[in-house]
Amino acid sequence: MDTKVIRIDPENIDITKINEAGDILRKGGLVAFPTETVYGLGGNACDAGASEAIYAAKGRPSDNPLIVHICDYSQLESIAADLPSEAKKLSDAFWPGPMTLIVNKNGVIPHETTGGLDTVAVRFPSHPIANALIRESGCMIAAPSANTSGRPSPTKAEHVIHDLSGRIDAIIDGGPVQIGLESTIVDLTEGLPTILRPGYINKQMLEEVVGEVKVDPGILGTENVHVRPKAPGMRYKHYAPKGDLKIVSGEPDRVIAEINRLAAEGEADSRKVGIIATEETKDLYHAGHVISIGDRTDEYEIAHNLFDVLRRMDEYGAELIYSEEFSTPRIGNAIMNRLLKAAAHQVIEV
Ligand code: TXA
Ligand code: MG
Repeated sequence: MDTKVIRIDPENIDITKINEAGDILRKGGLVAFPTETVYGLGGNACDAGASEAIYAAKGRPSDNPLIVHICDYSQLESIAADLPSEAKKLSDAFWPGPMTLIVNKNGVIPHETTGGLDTVAVRFPSHPIANALIRESGCMIAAPSANTSGRPSPTKAEHVIHDLSGRIDAIIDGGPVQIGLESTIVDLTEGLPTILRPGYINKQMLEEVVGEVKVDPGILGTENVHVRPKAPGMRYKHYAPKGDLKIVSGEPDRVIAEINRLAAEGEADSRKVGIIATEETKDLYHAGHVISIGDRTDEYEIAHNLFDVLRRMDEYGAELIYSEEFSTPRIGNAIMNRLLKAAAHQVIEV
């Protein structure tokens, strides 16, 4: 299949191009598009065949449910059964934006889209291209991240082209995304709201709106690897670069010394070594291929660059990758959740 790349300027949206993409969706085809978090691989959420095609294109297990993207709160009401009061409060505070709500579903969204579950994940994105596409197509859009299953999520159109070219009808290139980590997922189907995946909207921000919020014990960190996460997608190996990634954690000087030691050891063994460093530390490494993830004081920049850096390690052909730790104050949980999964929870404490 020929995949058409459609370039659209998010600041000056060409509606005829949006309609071209909307036509593809209405006919059951697949279109990748930018959102403020990561690129999504979209299909008509009400069309069971389109959802099956999404799973096939990504190579994703079909029991891993998709997120339904909407452009109006009333669409949530149209697909949910018994909406809890927190849904209105959270959506007033954070929609459009990088938050996904899990609610009980009625019969409008087919089980093919929800991986067989009776609940549905819903998100109202803020990206102008995503908004225009949902509105003009007239479809609620089912969209997982537009990467091959298991690979880092795409934050640029080039990442989508690399993974999915030839497998889907079209890719809208709207430039790099803003946030770079997938949305915060909040489950509203069991008593207290529960974070199933951390993201830009953190626990404290949610608690300011709805009071106490729980965190799914399955996503917390290294000590909890044996607890099964509730979001099916958080159970799979994910975000992984091809090389063997390890996180080195501890006091900064000792982390640098240990990474230098490991990199020299790897190179002595003729292995290609990659190092994930920051602007502050990148010149302190004496071996390995060093990539800076950004300024350590700017956690939003680190989040924005994480998946791109993991992909660049693959392009370099890194066999062994050592990363500093990024437990930053506001979204450090979200960053480390992705990095720990990419590293299969391998952490070297120094
Ligand atoms: O930012 C995002 O959320 C991006 C953009 C494209 O919107 N989408 C995204 O989708 O990250 P995906 O499919 O890569 O991740 C969705 C996650 C998976 O871990 C899935 O298991 C979980 O949401 N999920 C979806 N529906 C669910 C449900 N009904 N119950 C529990 N988890 C659910
Ligand atoms: Mg994904």
